[in-house]
Amino acid sequence: MSADRNVVADKNVVMDKNVITDKSMVKQALADLGLEIEAFLGGCMKGRHVPCALVTAMEYSLMAGGKRLRPALCLTFAELFGLARGEAMPFACALECIHTYSLIHDDLPAMDDDDLRRGKPSSHKKFGEATAILAGDGLLTEAFGIMTWVAEDGSGDGTVPPARVVAALRETASAAGAAGMVGGQFLDMDFTGRRTVKLDELRAMHALKTGALIRCSCLTGAILAGASEEDLARVRAYGEAIGVAFQIVDDVLDVVGDEATLGKPVGSDASQGKCTYPALVGIEKSREMARERADAAQEILAPYAGPQADFLRALARYIVERAS
Ligand code: IPE
Ligand code: IPE
Ligand code: MG
Ligand code: MG
Ligand code: MG
Repeated sequence: MSADRNVVADKNVVMDKNVITDKSMVKQALADLGLEIEAFLGGCMKGRHVPCALVTAMEYSLMAGGKRLRPALCLTFAELFGLARGEAMPFACALECIHTYSLIHDDLPAMDDDDLRRGKPSSHKKFGEATAILAGDGLLTEAFGIMTWVAEDGSGDGTVPPARVVAALRETASAAGAAGMVGGQFLDMDFTGRRTVKLDELRAMHALKTGALIRCSCLTGAILAGASEEDLARVRAYGEAIGVAFQIVDDVLDVVGDEATLGKPVGSDASQGKCTYPALVGIEKSREMARERADAAQEILAPYAGPQADFLRALARYIVERAS
């Protein structure tokens, strides 16, 4: 039932052949992984018994591009701890489905009311609000089915022991739900327009709305690979650090970024009265705080060697230096 797994057999990935040393190599490695991810994502929704126009809306957002950061993290952590990328691929791509659903709903008029996403009209602008809501619901729910494709369950498809899959599913449900991303999105809406939000509250909101799914992407790759508790603690700490850094930079780019490069509107946060790092501490201090988190993330992975560890350390730096 899974999409063609052979698409990941091609080893033209910078990370497989080189020591990652600079920003352009990180960008290239991420782009290479992105191609593998998109080859699989493109087949994920095929053959599902769902109304055609709904699949069109789901794929419109899913296949519109994006950095594919979350699946890249899941795949790389899986490899770091000994599981081949191809084996983790369905799980990694399902995380991208959940992320894409969160973007569709985030853009809705009742939330951030943004008309541009991944360089194209937002889902509700293209298909109307009802279809956008359902496309998001469809991506979220299908994701949990796709995640099970990695399980060694007798169907001849996956190879991962079921207990690990259950642990990764549990982690994902918690990170995506009310105790994670959805809870953070609620706080984001609740804080909007409020002038009295403290830095601690903002940090907690960022950790949930963005940090939880990024941390989960790191952790689930490691869980599927059977990493030890000691390793998982480091992976969790790395994921938390880059997750917060990622959202601080997202807030900064909403002020100083370029709409064409970002593929989404700039100035959206200020016009909505959002509580953000730049609004609370200014651009320079925000950048400094993001850099501090990236440094911490690099430090956390110091015990690991090899191309995956090099990539993940460089990725932490890239996250704070990115322009999109
Ligand atoms: C945007 O995420 C939403 C946030 C959580 C900040 P990304 O910046 O990863 O968006 P894509 O996937 O590249 O479009
Ligand atoms: C949204 O944060 C995080 C999500 C869970 C989607 P933002 O609202 O800042 O994300 P963008 O800037 O619209 O991508
Ligand atoms: Mg938002
Ligand atoms: Mg938004
Ligand atoms: Mg933003």
